[in-house]
Amino acid sequence: MTEPDIRKGLAGVVVDTTAISKVNPETNSLLYRGYPVQELAATQSFEAVAHLLWHGELPDAAQLAELRATERAHRALAPQVKAVIDGLPVDSHPMDEVRTAVSAIGAIETAGTTNVLDAVGTPEQNLERSLQLFAALPAIVAYGQRRRRGLDALESRDDLDYAANFLWLTFGEEPDPVVVAEFNRSMILYAEHSFNASTFTARVITSTLSDLYSAVVGAIGALKGPLHGGANEAVLHIFDEIGSADNVVPWLDKALAEKRKIMGFGHRVYKRGDSRVPTMKSALDRLVEHYDRPEVAELYSRLEEEFVSRKGIYPNLDYPSGPAYNLIGFDTVTFTPLFVAARITGWTAHIIEQQASNALIRPLSAYDGVDERHIDGYVPTEAERAAAERLEENAAG
Ligand code: COA
Repeated sequence: MTEPDIRKGLAGVVVDTTAISKVNPETNSLLYRGYPVQELAATQSFEAVAHLLWHGELPDAAQLAELRATERAHRALAPQVKAVIDGLPVDSHPMDEVRTAVSAIGAIETAGTTNVLDAVGTPEQNLERSLQLFAALPAIVAYGQRRRRGLDALESRDDLDYAANFLWLTFGEEPDPVVVAEFNRSMILYAEHSFNASTFTARVITSTLSDLYSAVVGAIGALKGPLHGGANEAVLHIFDEIGSADNVVPWLDKALAEKRKIMGFGHRVYKRGDSRVPTMKSALDRLVEHYDRPEVAELYSRLEEEFVSRKGIYPNLDYPSGPAYNLIGFDTVTFTPLFVAARITGWTAHIIEQQASNALIRPLSAYDGVDERHIDGYVPTEAERAAAERLEENAAG
């Protein structure tokens, strides 16, 4: 018998086609529906990019106005969703809070669906559900941060677009245009990245004809891990541990001697640098200048130089985004939920794409456990004996 070709972690395995994004590690490029991500980040609003991911084209003025109106209409959290969040311990991890809140929204929105075959929804319904989650996630993240800080939740402001309203809801201050612009850019950079672990999770769940909310809940669970989305949070913990640029060398000597993984560096696909990093690093530089915090940029550069020169492993998007979100004032534990708020666009685009050309995702495994054995005294039933005989007959001829 030939040995099965096992690719641990599905490394290098192409499992399906997608028209949503293209990651090209050779040219270090990432395209959303054909557009380089850095061009989108320089010129577009996150709402326009969401439209692009869902519909395949950037919106015209009327389409963008319509999307923004719908987004505004779905911003408020239902009282049941707030009640579910309030029922959680105040020190629950915000990723657990977000996952639970999305699950609650799903239960509310699909209430009355008694036939499980109807759960999948039509493409139109799923676009509506996608926009609804897109609109609700800032409120969920902001609600959580304010709850942890003992502050009352705020109402959304209809005069503000997505990014500015997100900052308003979290901090209750008039958002500064520089911060709004850089935050918007970060959301675009995080929006989509082909078949990463969370997106693939969403596609696996979708492939069973489960509903969009269940797929998003599963994706949030996958994103929480520090080898995936949780790395942006972990980068800040590293920065806190190091303290200042002067301490980088001794800290790194010790960390590498202990064989620690340095969060924010390395990537399964990009081996020569992450295509999104230069854009996010520029965003971080502008925030450093805006908040007058040069020591952050110093620590960032020193650690990058040292790590890259010693290991030849480059930063990924989480490396500049962690300190950027910290400067804006988000709690470290909310960084991965911010990633959820951005990636909801990519996940839902993939869920809709998977539904449109579905095949149940069900790989095989090679068994390496103990050989077949039997329970002492077990007597097969008549039906089992007959089935075994049929199999033998078929095998024989
Ligand atoms: N710090 C230290 N060493 C690292 C490293 C890191 N951040 N990333 C990779 N390496 C080393 C591994 O230890 C391994 O060394 P070895 O061959 O001596 O065992 C080698 O580089 C290959 O790494 P591996 O983990 O097998 O690569 P991968 O493609 O499976 O992993 C990641 C990619 C992202 C999981 C990995 O780079 C990592 O854990 N990075 C930190 C977490 C992170 O930032 N995640 C966000 C990704 S966007």
